Parts: sequence; C-alpha cells; structure tokens
Amino acid sequence: MRDTLAPSPAAPVRPGVRHLLDATTLDRAFIEGILGRALAIEGIGASVQVSSLREQILATLFYEPSTRTRFSLEAAMLRLGGQVISAEDASRGSSAAKGETLEDTIRIVAGYADLIALRHPEMGAAGRAATVSPVPILNAGDGAGQHPTQGLLDVFTIQRELGRLDQLRVAMVGDLAHGRTVHSIALLLSCFPANELIFVAPASLRIGEDILGELRARGTSIREETDLDAVAGDLDVLYQTRIQRERFASEADYEDVRGVYVVDEAVMRRLPKQAILMHPLPRLDEIDPAVDSDPRAAYFRQARNGLFVRMAVLEWLAGI
Ligand code: NCD
Repeated sequence: MRDTLAPSPAAPVRPGVRHLLDATTLDRAFIEGILGRALAIEGIGASVQVSSLREQILATLFYEPSTRTRFSLEAAMLRLGGQVISAEDASRGSSAAKGETLEDTIRIVAGYADLIALRHPEMGAAGRAATVSPVPILNAGDGAGQHPTQGLLDVFTIQRELGRLDQLRVAMVGDLAHGRTVHSIALLLSCFPANELIFVAPASLRIGEDILGELRARGTSIREETDLDAVAGDLDVLYQTRIQRERFASEADYEDVRGVYVVDEAVMRRLPKQAILMHPLPRLDEIDPAVDSDPRAAYFRQARNGLFVRMAVLEWLAGI
C-alpha cells in the first residue's frame, strides 16, 4: 500500500504521515487491503477488542452534523483499544466560534491526539488540515467534496452482499452534485474492471465534471440518465442518496427537486431479484420505509459495516 494518500498535488502533505483524504488517490491494492482487514476484524467479532491502538487517542472534530460516521469512528477507536476526544459541534463548541482558523485548530488538536477525524462544510478542508498536521487526518466528509471512508464501507458492503467488485452495473441516484459519498464510491468502483456506472439525477444535480473527467480518464463506463424507472430493471446495485438540502442556495431551489426520486415498492418490483438497494443514510422521504423489510434493502447492514471498515482504516492510518 502507498504511504501517503494525498488529495491533490496542490496540497503537499508532511512526508511520512498517512492521511485518508480523497478516494481519487486510492488504488485497488489499497482498497483490497482495507476490505480484507475489515473482514478479518469482523470475523474476530466487534465485541472483542483488538487492542492494536492501545494508548492512542483519536480526536473527532466535526463541524457538521453526523450520527453514523462519528459514532462508528469513535466505536472503532474504542474497540481497537484506543481512546477518543470529541468536538461534535465544532463550529460552535470549539474556538472556531471565536474565529480561530482551521489550520490553527488542527495544529493544536494534533498536539493532544494521535489521529484526527475531520468533518467540515468546505470542500478541500481535510486537505488543508493535512498540510499543517503532524498526525494523520481522516476526511470524514468535506462539504460537497469527498467521504472516502463511506466509499470504502460502501464497496465493502457490495463485496459482502454480491461477492464481487467487478462487472457490476451500479446506478447512483439523487443529489449527485452535492453528494460526497457518490463521489467517493464512484472513484473506488472505477478501480475494478468492467463496472458500469449510471448517474441518475435531474439536470441541476448532475455529478460534477471533475469526477466525470477522472472516471473517463480511467476508461470507466459511465452513463447519465434522468429517469430512475428506465434503469431500475437492469442493475446490480441501486445506490440512492438524500437531496442535500443544506447545500442549496435557497429553500426554493431545494423545493424544486425535493422528492424527485423515491424508491418505493413499485421501484423494488422492477429491481432484479439479486440486486441490492443501498443508501449512505440518513434518508428522508427518498426510500419508503415499506421497503425496509425487503431482503435486498442493504442500508442498515451497510451502516453496520462502517464499524469494521473504520477499524481497518484507523489501524492503517496509525501505521499498523
Ligand atoms: C452522508 C454524508 O454525511 O455525506 N452521511 C453519512 O456519512 N453516512 C450522506 C448524507 O448526509 O446524505
């Protein structure tokens, strides 16, 4: 595995410090390494402590709301024998409220903790943090940018559920402009052969040209659609996402696209029997709860998988 997974050439990171910032820099060998370790950890049993990070401290610095990402990271650290310090509402509960820069906050927190997980509303924030941090930075979501540990737990889930990461037809549906989990999982799937990615979004929420350009450069088969019904019948994975209300310029803009795609029993009747329905969660109205009992509804299993994958990622960041 490569040692430093830097975000972009523009953001030099300190040599020798591992970071997980952006799925663009991850390759197949890295992904398979993390997935293999996550599977081994799951086999050990998450109730059994692995103890590999004993005496290490993880700081979770979250400037945006979170349930799954922060709790699973903190649980992962505790189950690895480590300890956790947390700012769950860092924009109000840390010195950011007094005007401290992100860079200064990171310099300070890095003096107290061995690893930092950062969630921030600005795209590129984790990369900025990495340029000043002497300890590993884990990007737990940077605005409409990336969410690499979510992408890793998503591909882990596909591997677990379908037994492979290649030759898949995957539709990603909803707010592909702002949905950072889609950006990460699409790039991870492009590391495996013969996958076809179908991006289903209204014109105003199309996936960005930066991600599309990267996928094209890799030779990944991609297609853009606006009609979910037209694609649902021929898929291995339907990856539904939330319309990211908090990232719209106005409430009216949000209302224009709210509820544009809803996965209900009618969509599930179209979806092939062996396909799965995923969602990074939280969901609002884009998946009808009536669908939850369908065995193809994988989203709660997907969320649980985050624990094992984040245990594997924390070990890797710590150099284990
Ligand atoms: C996602 C996120 O924060 O990007 N949630 C998560 O981490 N599972 C998706 C979302 O907020 O819609």
